[in-house]
Order: sequence, then C-alpha cells, then structure tokens
Amino acid sequence: MKTQFVLPLIGFGTYKATETDGKANILRALEAGYRYLDTAAFYFNEEEIGQAVKESGIAREELFIASKVWLTELGFEKTLKSCEESLKKLGTDYLDLFLVHWPRADQNSEWKEPLIQTWKAMEQLCEEGKVKAIGVSNFLPHHLEVIKPIWKIKPAVDQLELHVGYMQETACRYCRENGILLQAWSPLGRGRVMNEPIITEMAAKYNVSPAKLLLQFLVQQNISVIPKASSLERMKENLDISSFEIAESDMYFLSCLPQMGWSGEHPDFVFLQ
Ligand SMILES: NC(=O)c1ccc[n+]([C@@H]2O[C@H](COP(=O)([O-])OP(=O)(O)OC[C@H]3O[C@@H](n4cnc5c(N)ncnc54)[C@H](OP(=O)(O)O)[C@@H]3O)[C@@H](O)[C@H]2O)c1
Repeated sequence: MKTQFVLPLIGFGTYKATETDGKANILRALEAGYRYLDTAAFYFNEEEIGQAVKESGIAREELFIASKVWLTELGFEKTLKSCEESLKKLGTDYLDLFLVHWPRADQNSEWKEPLIQTWKAMEQLCEEGKVKAIGVSNFLPHHLEVIKPIWKIKPAVDQLELHVGYMQETACRYCRENGILLQAWSPLGRGRVMNEPIITEMAAKYNVSPAKLLLQFLVQQNISVIPKASSLERMKENLDISSFEIAESDMYFLSCLPQMGWSGEHPDFVFLQ
C-alpha cells in the first residue's frame, strides 16, 4: 500500500544559498536542523547540495529533497533527462518531490501540448519510483486546467510566490478545492516586506521578529514555507515556527493589505523582466 504524501511545513530554500560560501551554507542549514532542501536545476547548486548531504552523514531517508525541471526543458523526453541529471548531481537515486518549475517557456510559443507531455513524464518518473511525489510551481488555475483532463496523478503541491502583500487568493482557492497543497516561495518577500512599518509594528506587538511574523502568517494557514537564510542564527530563528499564534483579527488584517513585495515574476510574462 502506498503511504500518504506528507509535505513538511518548513524547508530550506536554496536559491542563491551557495553563492557566498558554497556547500558550507547547506551544511549550516543541516546543522540548524533543516531536513527539507528545496533546489532546482536552475539554481545550479545541486552538486554542492549533494556534497553537503554526503558530508553531513545524515541518512537519506531522514531527508526530504525537492528539485525542479526548468522551463527550457519542458516536454516528455527532456523532463525525463532533467530528472536523471538532478538525481546524478544530487548523488541520490530518488527525489522526495519533483516540480515543474514554470508552466511555459515563454509568452509566445504554444505551451499547452509541451505541458501535457511534461506531466506525462512526471507521472512516469513517479511510477518508476525515481520521485516519490510530483507537483508544480508557479501554476495558476488556467495552467492546472490544461493538465487536469489527462492527469492520472494530480500535482501534490503548487509552489507559488506567497507572502504578506501577495497572496494570490484565486490560485490558493483553486488549489485547496482540488486538494493540491500550497507552498510559499519567497515567504519573507525576499526582504521586500520585512521592513514595512505595518509589519515591524505588528511583529513588535507579538514580541517576535518580522521574519517570524511573516512565516507564522503562512504556516498558520497550513502553507508550507521554504525560507532561505545565510547565518545559523537566522536559520534557527526561521525554523522555530508556530512558537506563537497570530490572532484571527490580525490574520484578516495581514490578508487584506494592498499588494506589496511582489517579485515581478509571472508565469505568463516571465520573460518581460
Ligand atoms: N519556484 C520558484 O519559482 C521560486 C522562486 C524563488 C524562490 N524559490 C524558492 O524559495 C526559496 C525562498 O525564497 P527567496 O530565497 O527568494 O526569499 P525569502 O526566503 O523570502 O527571503 C530570503 C531573504 O531574507 C533574508 N532572511 C532570511 N531569514 C531572515 C531573518 N530571520 N531575518 C532577516 N532576514 C532574513 C535572507 O538574507 P540572508 O540570506 O542574508 O540571511 C534573504 O535575503 C528560495 O531559496 C527557493 O528555494 C522558488
């Protein structure tokens, strides 16, 4: 019998996480207590992550490793190949989660058929046991609707840009209605939200840091978070989730703020940046 997929509520985000001191930062995250590492072919750090995991001596089954197929590799064969390359670089024979990083390669080419072929490859990887679970990232309802008629395995997760000031309500509602778990990338707004007076004031009210307030806001809605950090202190601080509760009225307040901190990245206009 297949065991039910469980998405950890917190993981370590590795985009640009190895730029300054390479695998040492991943080893630091493992030392801080993270067991979930979120990477992607596009982060070009899978080899360093694989080395850090090996050096840490932590058993593979204690770890949760996720990677993603990049948007230039959409399509059946390219997706299979991308997964093989990720496995090789990470030095593992399976991924706990494999995501389609973005739903389309650009805003001009025909994207629906490549996406359908990509999803068929994702399902094959799952059936072969190379990945334990499959999901998507940056998929809005109209992207999910393209694969829905053909999916035999539905996406377990949609990893979206989600943080105070950018909660993509329609996409979240669609995922919840379809039993797709939500995960927030840039849960701290990559530093763009933390210094807003509205956030620093509320954080002070709860006697926590702005980072903790922002993470708790998501976790309290059962949204998994993958913050990236560089110091042991910040890593530990972010890992210590649910040490307080945000009152319902403040949750409403934070949910209804005008847009702020958006990265500017959009799945249908990703190349406009
Ligand atoms: N699927 C996608 O398309 C996609 C896109 C973007 C990101 N992601 C994933 O999501 C992860 C997280 O997103 P992100 O890296 O963009 O942004 P983020 O986690 O929202 O923010 C990271 C920034 O916040 C700072 N920070 C972390 N903890 C802090 C704390 N406790 N106090 C103060 N500052 C703190 C970090 O600084 P220091 O590093 O200097 O500590 C860094 O500058 C990525 O690493 C990646 O795995 C996915």
